[in-house]
Amino acid sequence: MTSTERRYFEEMYESSRDPWNYSSSWYERRKYALTVAALPRVRYPSAFEPGCSIGVLSELLAVRCDRLLATDIIPAPLERASERLHRFPGVIVEQRAIPEWWPEQRFDLVVLSELAYYFDAETLSDIVLKVAESTDPGADLVAVHWRGETDYPLTGDQAHELIDGSPEFQRVAHHAEERFVLDVWERTK
Ligand SMILES: C[S@@+](CC[C@H](N)C(=O)[O-])C[C@H]1O[C@@H](n2cnc3c(N)ncnc32)[C@H](O)[C@@H]1O
Repeated sequence: MTSTERRYFEEMYESSRDPWNYSSSWYERRKYALTVAALPRVRYPSAFEPGCSIGVLSELLAVRCDRLLATDIIPAPLERASERLHRFPGVIVEQRAIPEWWPEQRFDLVVLSELAYYFDAETLSDIVLKVAESTDPGADLVAVHWRGETDYPLTGDQAHELIDGSPEFQRVAHHAEERFVLDVWERTK
């Protein structure tokens, strides 16, 4: 299976304003708290969060980042993300699809939260290479994904194994529990 079609996400957002219950679920709130707790640095000058949806995690990242670029392929959730994030002057919210579009900026932090398994292995490898090309040694890459069965191209564990196999990134933190896996990699020198 190749990367998940845009139509899949359009239908998710047509069925609900918050299809994964990001704003109400304790599971999600706890996972987000663990995700930001795992960030090695207290502050990041510049971060990129593709696939930001309605911006619940973005809000937690925004308080730790001077600048945050939050993007999503679908416009509907970005309206809610913009409302949630408008009080942070350093946050930019844009409708963009990776990896066809990739920002021409440098980042100290890239966050792939519940996104990497929607791509096939070849496309995810390309994304990891793009992350490497837009970061300097010492930057952090964070991924967090559900571990259950899906009909996505990759499982959460497969996506993390693929990232972990990249010579540009060295894993510095790993947290796995029954439902999700969370890893932090540092861009190698
Ligand atoms: C499961 S949600 C995860 C949302 C958010 N990262 C979080 O963890 O709260 C996946 C999001 O990625 C977006 N998405 C899917 N493919 C994308 C792509 N190629 N580029 C940017 N966003 C994409 C979807 O529209 C959806 O909002």
